[in-house]
Amino acid sequence: PTHLRLGVAGLGTVGVGVVKIIRKQAALLEARTGCKISITAVSARSKTKDRGVNLTDYAWEDDPVKLATRDDVDVYVELMGGSDGPAKASTEAALAAGKDVVTANKALLAHHGQALAEQAEADGRVLRFEAAVAGGIPVVKALTEGLAGNEITRIMGVMNGTCNYILTRMQSAGLPYDTVFEEANQLGYLEADPNLDVGGIDAGHKLALLASIGFGTKVSFDAVELEGIGQISIEDIHQAADMGYKIKLLGVAQMTGRGLEQRMTPCLVPETSPLGQLDGGTNMVVLEGDQVGQVVLRGAGAGEGPTASAVLSDIIDIARGTRISTFGQPAQSLVDAKPAQAVTP
Ligand code: NAP
Ligand code: HSE
Repeated sequence: PTHLRLGVAGLGTVGVGVVKIIRKQAALLEARTGCKISITAVSARSKTKDRGVNLTDYAWEDDPVKLATRDDVDVYVELMGGSDGPAKASTEAALAAGKDVVTANKALLAHHGQALAEQAEADGRVLRFEAAVAGGIPVVKALTEGLAGNEITRIMGVMNGTCNYILTRMQSAGLPYDTVFEEANQLGYLEADPNLDVGGIDAGHKLALLASIGFGTKVSFDAVELEGIGQISIEDIHQAADMGYKIKLLGVAQMTGRGLEQRMTPCLVPETSPLGQLDGGTNMVVLEGDQVGQVVLRGAGAGEGPTASAVLSDIIDIARGTRISTFGQPAQSLVDAKPAQAVTP
């Protein structure tokens, strides 16, 4: 295309970040893609809220489905969140109306990504979600592009910054879980439903998406073994430290003789290892391929700029005419994975 027209639904942390980049970097984006990228219309719950960014150039839609299906929108950018409701309805409507879709919504994709990707392919559209996994870290593109010549053998990582902040702070300040949880709440780190963070669910969503991309399997969030960080005591943290370990909410996905293993659970990691040294709200993803060995990616897993940066990378791909599936292969060809069976003693 020579002109890509966006409809942006959701003007919170990420949506405002996307608007800011498109306003600030218009010339740079056009130089990099050969395509003018602009926003046609936006949607959020409140039309009157001051969001610290000028929205007067854009048409307003109260209803995200109407936004997603407008004739003057080429790409629907879904940044509202939620696994169902308006996010799902508007994404389905956009694809059915012949729009490409970019989303940061890991909850939507962990539950409906398979069906949505198949719908996108059937309709000849593209569904991209770099921002949904580890925010600003380009891990989806690393798997689908940079490491595409490898058989992926293992994916590991710390994929929830809030949990990593809480665990790090418990250790460094010697504070109990409840105190640090409240601190994270005051800092605005927690999701509206905090259990998505501390219950390991948000990180589990991300792991399920990466496992699907890496192993060519259908997205199977229900098969992720999940355990959150709510039961970890300051004594656990001190005992781990005495042995030279830190406790991290660590995701591991690997194909074993017993099936696809997906775990997002608190683990002991050596404090001298890269994962052990990952402090605060940062994310780290470790990818292992049969040819490349280990690749370690580290960076901001959340926040306005980093997450919007990842959303832009998908928009730029579409502006450049890239049509590859986010899954690195057609979603129709992804296989059912046998979930790993527990070993009985
Ligand atoms: P947020 O700050 O809560 O913003 C959500 C936005 O969606 C708000 O502008 C809200 O409108 C709008 N919205 C909610 N329901 C709506 C509806 N029914 N119709 C129209 N608009 C509606 O959320 P966020 O942090 O930007 O996250 C957006 C997405 O990015 C989520 O899927 C999240 O998981 C994902 N993500 C976020 C981060 C991050 O660092 N924040 C990182 C990676 C991925 P009002 O403003 O009027 O209430
Ligand atoms: N709640 C998430 C986190 C936001 O703490 O990592 C980014 O997905």
